[in-house]
Amino acid sequence: MLLLSLLNICVWHVASAVAQSRGGGQRAGNCPQIQIFGARETTTPQGFGSAITLVELVQKRFPGTVAEEIVYPAAGDELYSRSVGQGILAVIKQTAAFSARCPQSIIIMHGYSQGAQIMDDAFCGGPDLPQLESATSLVSKATANNTAAIILMGNPRFVPGLSFNVGNATAGGFAARPADFECPEFDDRIQSYCESPDPFCSNGDDPDTHQGYGFQFGSDALDFIVSKLVAN
Ligand SMILES: *[C@@H]1O[C@H](CO)[C@@H](O)[C@H](O)[C@H]1NC(C)=O
Ligand SMILES: *[C@@H]1O[C@H](CO)[C@@H](O)[C@H](O)[C@H]1NC(C)=O
Repeated sequence: MLLLSLLNICVWHVASAVAQSRGGGQRAGNCPQIQIFGARETTTPQGFGSAITLVELVQKRFPGTVAEEIVYPAAGDELYSRSVGQGILAVIKQTAAFSARCPQSIIIMHGYSQGAQIMDDAFCGGPDLPQLESATSLVSKATANNTAAIILMGNPRFVPGLSFNVGNATAGGFAARPADFECPEFDDRIQSYCESPDPFCSNGDDPDTHQGYGFQFGSDALDFIVSKLVAN
């Protein structure tokens, strides 16, 4: 697959250090070695929201990594499903544009809460957005090829028992996938974090748990990303 060898990462660190000392940090054609897309949770202002914690961990571990926020409403209440639909389209469009411009760059996806739902639907196919209803991935072929890891935190589509779940939740979220759900093209590249007290990806009653995944599981997620960037 797309994966970098450890050697390549080391070589790139050196190249990047040189480029950065010249005020650059990006490779020829302004394409980074690694691009991370972040999608925020409901009702936070445009930006990375709670996804920022892991975004910054990745940028610290791989200097020169460029972070791009998914631009979508992240609206709640009666606007929620419309917002999810717009978010799915934004994920598809922004990743397709990037991988067309930078076909050699590695992509990391990180979605938080509603932001996780839109990535889940875009990569695994979704019942959301009826006009695009699909059981298969909606992202471009180049995006599918170049995406190394997809980190979902507090995903309302969480359902217990899936191979890529992390955390102790034993009940699904308010928009849970069916129990036999599979995402064969990406399941070995996904980690989906959910703890039982979370009211959104599970049936708990502690919103703080929902907001805390970056701190609770950020280094675990980073380890997973690193493992995906190192050829096996
Ligand atoms: C697949 O990914 C690798 C590594 O990022 C890249 O070199 C190659 O050009 C990509 N191929 C396609 C068809 O996108
Ligand atoms: C899951 O872990 C959290 C701590 O993150 C804890 O508060 C909760 O009680 C645990 N749930 C179960 C069912 O063990």
